Amino acid sequence: MQLKNIVKLLAVASLTAFSASALADAKLGNPANGKKIFENGKGSVPACSSCHGDKGQGNDMMKTPRLSGQVQAFIRKQLEDFATDKRTDTTMFTMNTVAKGLSPQDRADMAAFFSTNEIEPEISNLKELADAGTPVGRAYVGKGIVSYGIPKKGVPACRSCHDYNGRGAANVYPMIGQQKYTYLVNQLNKWRDGSRANDPLAQMRKVAQNMSDQDIQDVAAFLAKASPYSPGNEGLPHEHHYIVGSAD
Ligand code: HEC
Ligand code: HEC
Repeated sequence: MQLKNIVKLLAVASLTAFSASALADAKLGNPANGKKIFENGKGSVPACSSCHGDKGQGNDMMKTPRLSGQVQAFIRKQLEDFATDKRTDTTMFTMNTVAKGLSPQDRADMAAFFSTNEIEPEISNLKELADAGTPVGRAYVGKGIVSYGIPKKGVPACRSCHDYNGRGAANVYPMIGQQKYTYLVNQLNKWRDGSRANDPLAQMRKVAQNMSDQDIQDVAAFLAKASPYSPGNEGLPHEHHYIVGSAD
């Protein structure tokens, strides 16, 4: 195990949110194998980079999410959910086919790779999207929804689960800050109409059910650009995403 990972292990172990059993349960993934599949694919599974970008940064035109920097256990859960059809990808079951073509160990390895692959996020170009006819919301309104919700509609603050500016809270709550605009809007629509229903305790379906199209666009416009660094804290908040990804 590299020193870097030992340091991360200690950092994770010191987080009170983590019980010893959660650590013991976290199956180790091998990020090196994940990287190989990301770049080259495996058997009939195409390279993830061909749709998710060469750094895993996501792509608005292809409607793909950013994966790099995402919470490890969350990525792993999504791949399991696609493999078992608990979550379906509406674009010709692309991700269901991809996930089924990987072994459970490969899926764990992909999650380990993405969570440890630190990138400079490529922020959605909202002006370009608007010019191309995509409805783009108002970030200043979305900022309020992330921090305070919309009390009169019963929409809770996104921050209460997804942490400051949607930077994510391992193990359950994904990073939604600096995620791709198109992907955010699509998923919120899917939670609202129930076509995505793999959320524990229907948490996201309850959040989205009272949101209007405008609310969804507003919150996505803010989140797409939202920095994970809280005022006065220039540390690396996303370090708490790591559940130690190395089996070497
Ligand atoms: C042909 C294009 C394509 C390829 C190749 C592809 N993906 Fe995807 N992926 C998508 C799309 C599109 C979505 C969004 C699905 C949706 O909107 O429901 C997605 C979503 C995902 C998600 C869900 C992320 C989240 O935030 O919930 C994961 C995880 C993922 N892909 C992993 C992978 C991995 C790992 C590979 C390679 C083994 C891969 N993808 C290859 C198109 C692709
Ligand atoms: C009560 C807790 C809770 C609140 C509040 C909440 N979320 Fe979530 N959200 C979740 C959970 C849990 C998931 C992961 C579901 C899964 O496992 O697929 C999630 C997933 C998501 C996803 C999908 C991410 C991805 O990569 O696939 C988006 C987008 C999202 N939330 C947006 C929001 C927004 C916007 C708000 C505020 C309006 C919000 N959430 C408030 C619990 C919450």
